[in-house]
Amino acid sequence: MFQAAAPALSTDKATFYRDLDTQLRGLLTDERDWIANASNLSSLLYLMMPDLNWAGFYFTRPTQTGSELVLGPFQGKPACVRIPVAPVARGVCGAAASQRVTQRVHDVHDFPGHIACDSASNSELVVPLVKEGRVLGVLDLDSPNVGRFDADDQAGVERLVATFLAMSDTPR
Ligand code: SME
Repeated sequence: MFQAAAPALSTDKATFYRDLDTQLRGLLTDERDWIANASNLSSLLYLMMPDLNWAGFYFTRPTQTGSELVLGPFQGKPACVRIPVAPVARGVCGAAASQRVTQRVHDVHDFPGHIACDSASNSELVVPLVKEGRVLGVLDLDSPNVGRFDADDQAGVERLVATFLAMSDTPR
């Protein structure tokens, strides 16, 4: 049984994310299934990170003319299912996937083309899942707080994504 141990709110963010990474490694030990591990990571983030209203994955799928992101395991309200990536990217998630660069958005209302799945969302952090040169999808975190995510959050969540990618078998 998983025992959630929320790091104390007073801990600095480097310590917070180091502890979370240790918990994630424990959670993923002995299991390499991509969907199962993505599900547990979305749950861990939603439980442990303060002030989130959505945490989850979109996975890359081919289309007739390019590619899109399709909703994967998540925690939070039901969300939009398909987000175009190529030939024309949409939203914060599409930008992260097409540019292969983390998008840290202080206020989503200032982001051209932002897709409002939940009107409660005000800031967003989207990390692309890049493994062996392929963009396999994105991890998307939403917060009701403007400016919820800073550079330390970005570095910490990118570290968790790297752990997830290393400890999970790549889908075909
Ligand atoms: N806001 C995202 C869409 C996904 S939801 O937030 C879950 C975007 O602009 O890509």
